[in-house]
Amino acid sequence: APGTGIKVHWKDSKGNLIKTTEGNEGDDLLSLAHEHDIDLEGAPTQAANLCACEGSVACSTCHIVLTPEHYDLLPEPEDDENDMLDMAFGLTDTSRLGCQVKLTKDMDGITAMLPSATRNMFVDGKKPTHH
Ligand code: FES
Repeated sequence: APGTGIKVHWKDSKGNLIKTTEGNEGDDLLSLAHEHDIDLEGAPTQAANLCACEGSVACSTCHIVLTPEHYDLLPEPEDDENDMLDMAFGLTDTSRLGCQVKLTKDMDGITAMLPSATRNMFVDGKKPTHH
């Protein structure tokens, strides 16, 4: 219904507001970011690599940092999400993968901050070659 959107405030890694968007119950934060041209990876030149796994919990490009009060509203991350988060740069105690965070009504006004550093595993995570 109109006017019942769930507000999400997006901030950059320094805490500056990028924009405020509205989503619907069940939307995930990654899709919402895409819909509103928010680049979760930060670097526009990497736009082609934006969220390499399309929400299948096989990268960590959709890493976001939540405020503690909002983090506590969410169900616990699954093991596979925790595994991926372990590999994310700039990991915090309130980090989540955006593609795994589904909006609910009580999350209205949530803040999603971009982590202080990001990487795309599929680009930078190549195994070193030994000679
Ligand atoms: Fe790859 Fe979220 S988009 S883990």
